[in-house]
Amino acid sequence: TRTPVVLGVESSCDETGFGIVSEGVLLGQGLASSAAQHADFGGVVPEIAARAHLDAAVPTLRLALADAGVELGDITHVAATSGPGLATAVHVGLAAAKSVAWSLDVPLYGVHHLAGHAAADTLEHGPLPERSIVLIVSGGHTSILAVGDLVRDPIEHLGDTLDDAAGEAFDKVSRLLGLGYPGGPAISRAAAGGDPTAFSFPRAMLRQGDAPYTFSFSGLKTAVARTVETIERAGEAVPVADVAASFEQAVVDVLVTKAVRAVRDRGLDTLVIVGGVAANARLREAARQRCESLGITLRIPPIRLCTDNGAMIAAIGDLLVRSGAEPSGLGIPADPSAVL
Ligand code: KG4
Ligand code: ZN
Repeated sequence: TRTPVVLGVESSCDETGFGIVSEGVLLGQGLASSAAQHADFGGVVPEIAARAHLDAAVPTLRLALADAGVELGDITHVAATSGPGLATAVHVGLAAAKSVAWSLDVPLYGVHHLAGHAAADTLEHGPLPERSIVLIVSGGHTSILAVGDLVRDPIEHLGDTLDDAAGEAFDKVSRLLGLGYPGGPAISRAAAGGDPTAFSFPRAMLRQGDAPYTFSFSGLKTAVARTVETIERAGEAVPVADVAASFEQAVVDVLVTKAVRAVRDRGLDTLVIVGGVAANARLREAARQRCESLGITLRIPPIRLCTDNGAMIAAIGDLLVRSGAEPSGLGIPADPSAVL
């Protein structure tokens, strides 16, 4: 049999991603983003995202093939995000993946977007340990998971957010500070040089005895909005850098505290942080310090593998292929609200 060369296709939100992975090694990838087209709306507009995926699909696949130095005919398996995500957006990438798989007569795997986020880390740091805690922080999800083998073992949900996802909080606060979309990078830029202790924003459910692994970020967003309103009503200039830094610090404190708590409660020694918010410098540094002092092995993928991309979908596809999993077949529907 041929060595598997897996094409991954991602289109669940505003990034069109194609990645090519072979036996755990990232050969190359192509990425296009419609983020700029959503900037004026303060969030992703599904119809615009879908059209952008359609425009970008073929050129971005070409980029990925060139980057990997392989021909389309070298692809042995195709994996695509089947959910969760924006329905119209998922449909475009999944349809593209079906076309490629059918034309090459190779198996197609529909994969879960969040499993892809977790698998992204294996491209950088190799196979996950037998058991670890994974903190997934993206625009749509904030979850603490106990995972074993990503393909074979069931994933255990320790906690989720009750309301906004961490990335969503970044996007909403960015909008109310007038910093635009996507909010994460905008807040981080604005926060550079700001004082993270200038405002003491709420850290929801942080105390011992509270739901240990559950998050809530809507109160934080409201607190930031009130603070900004109060300052503006007093006719003063909003100290954007201080507000941004203090907001960031509040998010980071809660994420790191709860994720590390899960690692220790479970008697494990590895924390994996993935998803778009894992690109955040303050989060990366805080997690590094806390894990170092507690002897926890911290794994965070490089920034380009944290935010949505095709390589992570190829990575989970490659794991599925090598574990002998059954392909989904060309009839697989999109599942926009798929749960892990
Ligand atoms: O994983 P991702 O690319 O897409 C989803 O699956 O949702 O995550 C996107 C989220 C957005 O909310 C974005 O604001 C946030 O990740 N993000 C960041 C940073 N870069 C992206 N949040 C904080 N700091 C960043 N540097
Ligand atoms: Zn994502």
